[in-house]
Amino acid sequence: MAVSIREVAAEAGVSVATVSNVLNRPEIVAQRTRDRVNAVIRDLGFVRNESARQLRAGRSRTIGLVVLDVANPFFTDLARGVEDEVSEAGLAVILCNSDDRESKERRYLELLEEHRVQGVLITPVAGADTTLAGLQRRGTPVVLVDSRAPSRGQCSVAVDDVLGGDLAVTHLLDNGHKQIAYVSGPPALRQVADRRDGALRALRRAGRSPQSLQVIETSALNVAAGKWAGAAITSIPASSRPTAVFCANDLMALGVLQEMTRNHIRVPEDISIVGYDDIDFAAAAAVPLTSVRQPRHQLGRTAARLLLEEAADDDVTHQHRQVIFEPELVVRQSTQAPPVDPVVLPPGLRQATPVALSEP
Ligand code: RIB
Repeated sequence: MAVSIREVAAEAGVSVATVSNVLNRPEIVAQRTRDRVNAVIRDLGFVRNESARQLRAGRSRTIGLVVLDVANPFFTDLARGVEDEVSEAGLAVILCNSDDRESKERRYLELLEEHRVQGVLITPVAGADTTLAGLQRRGTPVVLVDSRAPSRGQCSVAVDDVLGGDLAVTHLLDNGHKQIAYVSGPPALRQVADRRDGALRALRRAGRSPQSLQVIETSALNVAAGKWAGAAITSIPASSRPTAVFCANDLMALGVLQEMTRNHIRVPEDISIVGYDDIDFAAAAAVPLTSVRQPRHQLGRTAARLLLEEAADDDVTHQHRQVIFEPELVVRQSTQAPPVDPVVLPPGLRQATPVALSEP
Protein backbone atom coordinates (compact mmCIF):
# COMPACT_ATOMS: atom_id res chain seq x y z
CA MET A 1 0.00 0.00 0.00
CA ALA A 2 1.38 3.42 -0.94
CA VAL A 3 2.64 5.50 1.97
CA SER A 4 0.27 8.46 2.50
CA ILE A 5 1.19 12.05 3.25
CA ARG A 6 -0.59 11.61 6.55
CA GLU A 7 1.77 8.78 7.57
CA VAL A 8 4.77 10.96 6.73
CA ALA A 9 3.32 13.80 8.81
CA ALA A 10 2.64 11.51 11.78
CA GLU A 11 6.12 9.99 11.63
CA ALA A 12 7.79 13.40 11.37
CA GLY A 13 5.52 14.89 14.06
CA VAL A 14 4.25 17.71 11.84
CA SER A 15 0.92 18.59 10.18
CA VAL A 16 -0.01 17.41 6.70
CA ALA A 17 0.11 21.06 5.67
CA THR A 18 3.79 21.20 6.65
CA VAL A 19 4.62 18.08 4.61
CA SER A 20 2.69 19.64 1.73
CA ASN A 21 4.85 22.78 2.08
CA VAL A 22 8.09 20.74 2.17
CA LEU A 23 6.97 19.20 -1.13
CA ASN A 24 5.55 22.33 -2.78
CA ARG A 25 7.05 25.39 -1.07
CA PRO A 26 10.18 24.21 0.80
CA GLU A 27 11.41 27.80 1.04
CA ILE A 28 8.82 28.63 3.67
CA VAL A 29 9.70 25.68 5.93
CA ALA A 30 12.48 25.89 8.56
CA GLN A 31 15.60 23.99 7.46
CA ARG A 32 15.55 21.67 10.49
CA THR A 33 11.87 20.76 9.84
CA ARG A 34 12.58 20.30 6.13
CA ASP A 35 15.46 17.93 6.89
CA ARG A 36 13.35 15.91 9.33
CA VAL A 37 10.45 15.57 6.91
CA ASN A 38 12.71 14.68 3.98
CA ALA A 39 14.43 12.03 6.11
CA VAL A 40 11.03 10.47 6.90
CA ILE A 41 10.03 10.65 3.23
CA ARG A 42 13.20 8.68 2.37
CA ASP A 43 12.82 6.20 5.25
CA LEU A 44 9.15 5.43 4.47
CA GLY A 45 9.65 5.48 0.72
CA PHE A 46 6.90 8.07 0.25
CA VAL A 47 6.24 8.89 -3.40
CA ARG A 48 4.14 11.97 -3.99
CA ASN A 49 0.88 11.28 -5.75
CA GLU A 50 1.27 12.94 -9.13
CA SER A 51 -2.45 12.69 -9.84
CA ALA A 52 -3.20 14.39 -6.51
CA ARG A 53 -0.53 17.02 -7.27
CA GLN A 54 -2.08 17.53 -10.68
CA LEU A 55 -5.43 17.80 -8.89
CA ARG A 56 -3.82 20.42 -6.70
CA ALA A 57 -2.08 22.02 -9.67
CA GLY A 58 -5.40 22.15 -11.53
CA ARG A 59 -7.09 23.96 -8.67
CA SER A 60 -6.91 27.40 -7.05
CA ARG A 61 -4.92 27.78 -3.85
CA THR A 62 -8.15 28.34 -1.91
CA ILE A 63 -10.62 26.35 0.11
CA GLY A 64 -14.29 27.18 0.67
CA LEU A 65 -15.84 27.52 4.14
CA VAL A 66 -19.66 27.66 4.18
CA VAL A 67 -21.23 28.55 7.56
CA LEU A 68 -24.84 28.96 8.67
CA ASP A 69 -24.51 32.44 10.16
CA VAL A 70 -21.37 34.53 9.79
CA ALA A 71 -22.71 36.91 12.52
CA ASN A 72 -22.52 34.09 15.10
CA PRO A 73 -19.17 34.30 16.97
CA PHE A 74 -19.17 30.50 17.10
CA PHE A 75 -18.43 30.47 13.37
CA THR A 76 -15.96 33.34 13.62
CA ASP A 77 -13.86 31.37 16.10
CA LEU A 78 -14.22 28.23 13.98
CA ALA A 79 -13.16 30.16 10.86
CA ARG A 80 -10.07 31.39 12.69
CA GLY A 81 -9.02 27.78 13.31
CA VAL A 82 -9.56 26.98 9.62
CA GLU A 83 -7.54 29.97 8.50
CA ASP A 84 -4.66 29.21 10.88
CA GLU A 85 -4.37 25.71 9.38
CA VAL A 86 -4.73 26.44 5.67
CA SER A 87 -2.53 29.54 5.70
CA GLU A 88 0.35 27.28 6.79
CA ALA A 89 -0.21 25.41 3.52
CA GLY A 90 -0.17 28.67 1.57
CA LEU A 91 -3.90 28.63 0.87
CA ALA A 92 -6.64 31.25 1.42
CA VAL A 93 -10.20 30.77 2.69
CA ILE A 94 -13.31 31.85 0.75
CA LEU A 95 -15.94 32.44 3.48
CA CYS A 96 -19.59 31.91 2.45
CA ASN A 97 -22.64 32.62 4.63
CA SER A 98 -25.64 30.40 3.83
CA ASP A 99 -28.00 32.14 6.32
CA ASP A 100 -29.32 28.62 6.96
CA ARG A 101 -31.01 28.81 3.51
CA GLU A 102 -30.63 25.81 1.16
CA SER A 103 -30.96 27.95 -2.02
CA LYS A 104 -28.14 30.27 -0.93
CA GLU A 105 -25.97 27.34 0.15
CA ARG A 106 -26.47 25.64 -3.24
CA ARG A 107 -25.46 28.83 -5.09
CA TYR A 108 -22.27 29.12 -3.02
CA LEU A 109 -21.37 25.44 -3.60
CA GLU A 110 -21.76 25.96 -7.38
CA LEU A 111 -19.56 29.07 -7.21
CA LEU A 112 -16.87 27.29 -5.19
CA GLU A 113 -16.84 24.39 -7.65
CA GLU A 114 -16.48 26.83 -10.57
CA HIS A 115 -13.67 28.48 -8.64
CA ARG A 116 -11.90 25.06 -8.51
CA VAL A 117 -11.25 25.25 -4.76
CA GLN A 118 -9.08 22.52 -3.21
CA GLY A 119 -12.08 21.48 -1.11
CA VAL A 120 -15.08 22.69 0.89
CA LEU A 121 -15.67 22.82 4.66
CA ILE A 122 -19.34 23.22 5.47
CA THR A 123 -21.86 23.32 8.31
CA PRO A 124 -24.71 22.22 6.07
CA VAL A 125 -28.25 23.49 6.07
CA ALA A 126 -30.53 20.61 7.10
CA GLY A 127 -31.20 18.24 4.18
CA ALA A 128 -28.48 19.45 1.78
CA ASP A 129 -26.72 16.02 1.62
CA THR A 130 -27.49 15.41 -2.08
CA THR A 131 -25.78 18.64 -3.21
CA LEU A 132 -22.66 17.75 -1.25
CA ALA A 133 -22.57 14.19 -2.59
CA GLY A 134 -22.61 15.56 -6.15
CA LEU A 135 -19.76 17.93 -5.40
CA GLN A 136 -17.66 15.05 -4.04
CA ARG A 137 -18.50 12.78 -6.97
CA ARG A 138 -17.17 15.47 -9.34
CA GLY A 139 -13.85 15.54 -7.45
CA THR A 140 -14.15 18.31 -4.84
CA PRO A 141 -13.39 17.03 -1.31
CA VAL A 142 -16.03 18.02 1.29
CA VAL A 143 -15.61 17.88 5.09
CA LEU A 144 -18.53 18.58 7.44
CA VAL A 145 -17.75 20.79 10.43
CA ASP A 146 -19.98 21.23 13.52
CA SER A 147 -22.10 18.46 11.97
CA ARG A 148 -21.75 14.69 12.20
CA ALA A 149 -21.35 12.87 8.86
CA PRO A 150 -24.45 10.79 7.96
CA SER A 151 -22.14 7.95 6.81
CA ARG A 152 -18.54 6.81 7.01
CA GLY A 153 -18.14 7.88 3.40
CA GLN A 154 -17.38 11.46 4.43
CA CYS A 155 -15.00 13.23 6.79
CA SER A 156 -16.58 15.26 9.57
CA VAL A 157 -15.59 17.10 12.74
CA ALA A 158 -18.21 17.76 15.39
CA VAL A 159 -18.94 17.77 19.10
CA ASP A 160 -20.98 15.15 20.96
CA ASP A 161 -24.05 17.37 21.17
CA VAL A 162 -26.10 14.66 22.91
CA LEU A 163 -23.57 14.78 25.75
CA GLY A 164 -23.69 18.58 25.62
CA GLY A 165 -27.46 18.65 26.11
CA ASP A 166 -27.13 16.06 28.88
CA LEU A 167 -24.49 18.14 30.70
CA ALA A 168 -26.67 21.29 30.52
CA VAL A 169 -29.85 19.69 31.89
CA THR A 170 -28.07 17.52 34.46
CA HIS A 171 -26.58 20.74 35.85
CA LEU A 172 -30.10 22.25 36.15
CA LEU A 173 -31.57 19.08 37.70
CA ASP A 174 -28.69 18.93 40.18
CA ASN A 175 -29.63 22.50 41.16
CA GLY A 176 -33.19 21.34 41.91
CA HIS A 177 -35.05 22.56 38.81
CA LYS A 178 -38.09 20.50 37.88
CA GLN A 179 -39.64 22.39 34.95
CA ILE A 180 -37.14 23.33 32.22
CA ALA A 181 -37.65 25.08 28.88
CA TYR A 182 -35.51 24.07 25.88
CA VAL A 183 -35.18 26.95 23.37
CA SER A 184 -34.32 24.78 20.42
CA GLY A 185 -33.78 26.65 17.16
CA PRO A 186 -34.78 24.85 13.93
CA PRO A 187 -35.33 21.21 14.99
CA ALA A 188 -34.29 19.94 11.51
CA LEU A 189 -30.66 20.82 12.39
CA ARG A 190 -28.95 17.69 13.69
CA GLN A 191 -26.93 19.68 16.24
CA VAL A 192 -30.14 21.11 17.72
CA ALA A 193 -31.95 17.76 17.76
CA ASP A 194 -28.96 16.07 19.43
CA ARG A 195 -28.88 18.70 22.20
CA ARG A 196 -32.58 18.12 22.84
CA ASP A 197 -32.02 14.33 22.91
CA GLY A 198 -29.25 14.85 25.46
CA ALA A 199 -31.60 16.96 27.59
CA LEU A 200 -34.25 14.20 27.47
CA ARG A 201 -31.59 11.57 28.35
CA ALA A 202 -30.69 13.57 31.48
CA LEU A 203 -34.37 13.72 32.48
CA ARG A 204 -34.80 9.96 31.95
CA ARG A 205 -31.71 9.19 34.04
CA ALA A 206 -33.12 11.39 36.83
CA GLY A 207 -36.44 9.57 36.64
CA ARG A 208 -38.19 12.69 35.38
CA SER A 209 -40.95 12.74 32.75
CA PRO A 210 -40.08 14.11 29.29
CA GLN A 211 -42.97 16.47 29.98
CA SER A 212 -40.57 18.28 32.33
CA LEU A 213 -38.92 19.70 29.20
CA GLN A 214 -41.01 22.38 27.51
CA VAL A 215 -39.68 22.73 23.95
CA ILE A 216 -39.83 26.21 22.40
CA GLU A 217 -38.91 25.96 18.71
CA THR A 218 -37.55 29.03 16.94
CA SER A 219 -36.83 29.56 13.23
CA ALA A 220 -33.29 30.84 13.77
CA LEU A 221 -30.36 30.50 16.18
CA ASN A 222 -29.76 34.18 16.92
CA VAL A 223 -30.44 36.86 19.57
CA ALA A 224 -33.78 37.88 18.01
CA ALA A 225 -35.01 34.29 18.20
CA GLY A 226 -33.88 34.16 21.82
CA LYS A 227 -35.83 37.34 22.62
CA TRP A 228 -38.93 35.86 20.98
CA ALA A 229 -38.53 32.69 23.06
CA GLY A 230 -37.99 34.82 26.18
CA ALA A 231 -41.27 36.63 25.50
CA ALA A 232 -43.02 33.26 25.14
CA ILE A 233 -41.63 32.21 28.54
CA THR A 234 -42.60 35.47 30.30
CA SER A 235 -46.13 35.08 28.89
CA ILE A 236 -46.51 31.88 30.94
CA PRO A 237 -48.09 32.65 34.35
CA ALA A 238 -45.38 32.73 37.03
CA SER A 239 -47.09 29.86 38.85
CA SER A 240 -46.42 27.44 36.00
CA ARG A 241 -43.43 29.11 34.33
CA PRO A 242 -40.26 26.99 33.91
CA THR A 243 -37.64 27.91 36.52
CA ALA A 244 -34.78 27.22 34.07
CA VAL A 245 -34.07 27.66 30.36
CA PHE A 246 -31.58 25.62 28.29
CA CYS A 247 -30.83 27.33 24.93
CA ALA A 248 -29.37 25.52 21.89
CA ASN A 249 -26.73 28.26 21.55
CA ASP A 250 -25.37 31.29 23.39
CA LEU A 251 -26.86 33.89 21.02
CA MET A 252 -30.36 32.71 21.89
CA ALA A 253 -29.43 32.55 25.59
CA LEU A 254 -28.35 36.22 25.37
CA GLY A 255 -31.73 37.04 23.77
CA VAL A 256 -33.59 35.22 26.57
CA LEU A 257 -31.47 37.07 29.15
CA GLN A 258 -32.33 40.41 27.53
CA GLU A 259 -36.05 39.61 27.58
CA MET A 260 -36.00 38.49 31.24
CA THR A 261 -34.19 41.69 32.21
CA ARG A 262 -36.69 43.80 30.23
CA ASN A 263 -39.53 42.13 32.17
CA HIS A 264 -37.75 42.57 35.54
CA ILE A 265 -37.39 38.83 35.93
CA ARG A 266 -34.13 38.25 37.78
CA VAL A 267 -31.50 35.85 36.43
CA PRO A 268 -30.68 33.52 38.19
CA GLU A 269 -32.80 34.35 41.27
CA ASP A 270 -36.16 33.93 39.42
CA ILE A 271 -35.02 31.88 36.42
CA SER A 272 -31.75 30.15 35.44
CA ILE A 273 -30.32 30.19 31.91
CA VAL A 274 -27.80 27.84 30.24
CA GLY A 275 -26.35 28.53 26.79
CA TYR A 276 -24.23 26.47 24.35
CA ASP A 277 -20.91 27.22 22.56
CA ASP A 278 -19.30 29.37 25.31
CA ILE A 279 -18.52 32.21 22.90
CA ASP A 280 -16.61 35.13 24.47
CA PHE A 281 -19.85 37.10 24.94
CA ALA A 282 -21.15 34.38 27.26
CA ALA A 283 -18.64 35.27 29.97
CA ALA A 284 -18.98 39.01 29.21
CA ALA A 285 -22.80 39.07 29.49
CA ALA A 286 -24.54 41.27 32.12
CA VAL A 287 -25.10 38.01 34.00
CA PRO A 288 -22.19 35.77 32.93
CA LEU A 289 -23.72 32.75 31.24
CA THR A 290 -23.35 29.16 32.24
CA SER A 291 -22.66 27.50 28.89
CA VAL A 292 -21.61 24.23 27.24
CA ARG A 293 -18.24 24.94 25.68
CA GLN A 294 -17.42 23.76 22.16
CA PRO A 295 -13.70 23.75 21.17
CA ARG A 296 -14.42 26.14 18.30
CA HIS A 297 -10.88 26.91 17.11
CA GLN A 298 -9.91 23.23 17.35
CA LEU A 299 -13.04 22.21 15.40
CA GLY A 300 -11.97 24.52 12.58
CA ARG A 301 -8.30 23.54 12.62
CA THR A 302 -9.04 19.80 12.67
CA ALA A 303 -11.62 20.05 9.88
CA ALA A 304 -9.16 22.01 7.72
CA ARG A 305 -6.45 19.40 8.37
CA LEU A 306 -8.78 16.59 7.28
CA LEU A 307 -9.68 18.55 4.14
CA LEU A 308 -6.04 19.15 3.19
CA GLU A 309 -5.29 15.47 3.73
CA GLU A 310 -8.19 14.49 1.46
CA ALA A 311 -7.10 17.04 -1.18
CA ALA A 312 -3.54 15.67 -1.06
CA ASP A 313 -4.54 11.99 -1.04
CA ASP A 314 -6.16 10.21 -3.94
CA ASP A 315 -9.34 8.21 -3.59
CA VAL A 316 -7.37 5.00 -3.07
CA THR A 317 -5.24 6.11 -0.11
CA HIS A 318 -7.72 8.40 1.69
CA GLN A 319 -9.58 6.95 4.67
CA HIS A 320 -12.49 9.17 5.75
CA ARG A 321 -12.59 10.00 9.45
CA GLN A 322 -15.41 11.22 11.69
CA VAL A 323 -13.84 13.17 14.58
CA ILE A 324 -16.02 13.85 17.65
CA PHE A 325 -14.88 16.20 20.42
CA GLU A 326 -16.38 16.25 23.91
CA PRO A 327 -18.09 19.43 25.13
CA GLU A 328 -17.47 20.85 28.60
CA LEU A 329 -19.90 22.57 31.00
CA VAL A 330 -18.69 26.00 32.16
CA VAL A 331 -20.68 27.13 35.23
CA ARG A 332 -21.11 30.89 35.77
CA GLN A 333 -23.59 33.22 37.50
CA SER A 334 -26.68 32.56 35.31
CA THR A 335 -27.68 29.37 37.10
CA GLN A 336 -28.63 28.54 40.69
CA ALA A 337 -31.38 26.68 42.60
CA PRO A 338 -34.98 27.64 41.72
CA PRO A 339 -36.87 30.28 43.75
CA VAL A 340 -37.47 28.92 47.25
CA ASP A 341 -41.08 30.01 47.72
CA PRO A 342 -43.03 27.49 45.60
CA VAL A 343 -46.26 29.06 44.46
CA VAL A 344 -49.18 27.26 46.10
CA LEU A 345 -52.04 27.03 43.61
CA PRO A 346 -55.54 27.74 45.03
CA PRO A 347 -57.71 24.60 45.32
CA GLY A 348 -59.20 23.51 41.98
CA LEU A 349 -56.41 25.06 39.88
CA ARG A 350 -53.90 22.70 38.32
CA GLN A 351 -50.40 22.97 36.94
CA ALA A 352 -50.54 24.02 33.27
CA THR A 353 -49.65 21.20 30.86
CA PRO A 354 -46.37 22.02 29.09
CA VAL A 355 -46.92 22.61 25.38
CA ALA A 356 -44.43 22.87 22.52
CA LEU A 357 -44.48 26.49 21.31
CA SER A 358 -43.33 27.47 17.85
CA GLU A 359 -42.97 30.82 16.18
CA PRO A 360 -46.04 32.01 14.21
O1 RIB B 1 -24.52 24.87 13.91
C1 RIB B 1 -25.72 25.16 14.57
C2 RIB B 1 -25.39 25.84 15.86
O2 RIB B 1 -24.47 25.03 16.57
C3 RIB B 1 -24.71 27.16 15.61
O3 RIB B 1 -25.67 28.16 15.77
C4 RIB B 1 -23.65 27.24 16.66
O4 RIB B 1 -24.04 28.13 17.68
C5 RIB B 1 -23.49 25.83 17.18
O5 RIB B 1 -23.80 25.78 18.55
